Amino acid sequence: MVNVNNQLLKNECVFTPPSSVHASSFSSIRKQFPAIKENTGTIFFDNAATTQKPQQVIDAMNSFYMQYCVNANRAAYSLSSKLHQQVEITRATIARLINGEATDIAFTSGATDSLNLVALAWGLHNLNDRDEVMLCLEDHQSAILPWINLKLHLNLFGKHIEIVHFPIHYSGIYDRKSICEKITPRTRLVAMTHIHNLYGLEWDGKDLAEIRAQLPDDTLISLDVSQSIGHTVVDTDQLAVDFISFSGHKMFAANGIGVLWVNPKIREKLYPARIGSKSSVTIVDGEMKIDRSTLAGILECGTLNLPAIYSLKSAVEFIESIGMKNIETHVSYLTRFLYEKLRVIPTIEFAPGVNNYNCAKGFGIISFRFSGISSSDMAQYLDQRGVQVRSGDHCLATKHSEEADYIRVSLHIYNTEEEIDLFVKFLEQVLSWQDL
Ligand SMILES: Cc1ncc(COP(=O)(O)O)c(C=O)c1O
Repeated sequence: MVNVNNQLLKNECVFTPPSSVHASSFSSIRKQFPAIKENTGTIFFDNAATTQKPQQVIDAMNSFYMQYCVNANRAAYSLSSKLHQQVEITRATIARLINGEATDIAFTSGATDSLNLVALAWGLHNLNDRDEVMLCLEDHQSAILPWINLKLHLNLFGKHIEIVHFPIHYSGIYDRKSICEKITPRTRLVAMTHIHNLYGLEWDGKDLAEIRAQLPDDTLISLDVSQSIGHTVVDTDQLAVDFISFSGHKMFAANGIGVLWVNPKIREKLYPARIGSKSSVTIVDGEMKIDRSTLAGILECGTLNLPAIYSLKSAVEFIESIGMKNIETHVSYLTRFLYEKLRVIPTIEFAPGVNNYNCAKGFGIISFRFSGISSSDMAQYLDQRGVQVRSGDHCLATKHSEEADYIRVSLHIYNTEEEIDLFVKFLEQVLSWQDL
């Protein structure tokens, strides 16, 4: 990572998301979140960690426990089959959200679980000696550690794969040139993130297509969309990747549910990473035969997180009722609003991201710090005033905590200009104490 002079780059910034939104319709959306409505005095600016839940999602979870609390697809009674139908309706709902097919979707326990499954269900069975997996060490741990873990697993069986690193450009987006230079005929998979959890910039369909064009024909791309799902369109056609992973709890659904989408062209290369009840396998003469007609058949087993699946369907319906484009426009507007307030604070030092890049859109994430005060101390001061922001290592595996110790603000649809004004006022208060 190259260190940059903030001042210089501030002048270069052409961050121009839309400057008007339908503020009134968003204030009615805010009212649908009980935790926001009830916690008057609290400002929740940690939406990249998890989102608050709208009433309809809470109601969906409650209705599971009050009306449908049976296991799905196990018994002859009707409620069990009805619940099974709900699971499949949710699968179809997710397929609609990402413009995919239900047969290509498996439920997991979250993005971390999905990303581990890519390594274990595909990597373990398809990587050979000297094959290379490319990834960026500045990405979230959940996107990179599964590959390092897989390398250790394969070592046990005498196979040695290479993990090849590519950097993030100082602007906050992957360094395309460096990626292209590192591609070799042995590159088998490139792991990337759609929107970075600290820098907040998007590696979009065009960027992906350019990288794809440089890769050997059978090289796969795994995309972590944890920070983009619920913020912008995630379209399996436009993204042209092979694996897509995300969590429900970052898109208004409950904890403990995630999604893995796999390109049907490579389904036959996958094997179960764990197995048990409801796995679509049969044992014939001691051999395991896998039914690969759906991804769920290969990857799902045991009792699924049914209440969370219920909540996921409701969360997608909630997003659809607002419209993804409207969410994107509103959050982009708030990002700009925040950025304009922050950039005039003299001692601010921005992390790569909207400050440094010639970006037209913001996805709610801005990270920064101040000289003379640790970000964790600042986060604690803010907490005393009811503002919740993230500080610390931001789950980046290779960062020394001091280096990565930025304050990260991450916004979503229920945040407001008033909250941002108050937040900036609190920041300035704390900074003014330094002058005393
Ligand atoms: C980019 C990214 N990937 C993966 C994850 C892991 O998500 P989860 O903890 O829900 O599995 C996160 C969580 O913050 C993230 O931001």
